[in-house]
Amino acid sequence: MKIGIIGAMAVEVESLKAKVESKTVETVSGIEFVSGILCGKEVVIAQCGIGKVFAAICTEAMIVRYGVDAVINTGVAGTLSENIGILDLAISDAVVQHDMDTSPLGDPVGLLSGINIVKLPAADWLVDKISAAADKMGIRHERGVIASGDQFISNADKKKYIKGEFGAIACEMEGGSVGHVCYVNGVDFAVIRSISDNASGEANMEYPEMVKRAAAQSEALVIKTLSSL
Ligand code: ADE
Repeated sequence: MKIGIIGAMAVEVESLKAKVESKTVETVSGIEFVSGILCGKEVVIAQCGIGKVFAAICTEAMIVRYGVDAVINTGVAGTLSENIGILDLAISDAVVQHDMDTSPLGDPVGLLSGINIVKLPAADWLVDKISAAADKMGIRHERGVIASGDQFISNADKKKYIKGEFGAIACEMEGGSVGHVCYVNGVDFAVIRSISDNASGEANMEYPEMVKRAAAQSEALVIKTLSSL
């Protein structure tokens, strides 16, 4: 089984890339893909860039060019849930795109026209493995809907809207797109997000430090999950 691992920012994948054995590196559509062996598993790892379009380009290449059997999206997120705070984890049962909105045409908010679905389900087997690995690492985590959009959320009203409309537990900018591309290609996926901020605009002077720590924690969970596959 070959696993694709995608992070948006360098800090979200660089330690994983550094650990790959029997490495080959190739650039496709401006994205560097590092293939090889990690924890005894065949992997391809890429830093896709921030936002849904970069994530879609990357996921499609992983599926079409590298033939991955499943994709894990790792990184950081803002919390929308009272149950998880900074440096806790959100694990996707499903993903949505909170900025997809054709509701003036009578559609539900978030509907992905053409495939007629709002919440894209993650692969249960993979989510179970990730949750079990998080338990073993003793990291507090919640499973639920992760909401993506091409916006950094730092506003209490917007946070309330995304949480209320989709029942989402965390917000970020790529997972919904990774899920969308996997869904149309029939490929399993899961999203792991370590919480870096409150998504509410409250002063968080420690954000740059929290991003580093949260991203590293998410990478560590990817390693623990791969070891259990
Ligand atoms: N990634 C980390 N925090 C985020 C936030 N508040 N909104 C969107 N993406 C994020």
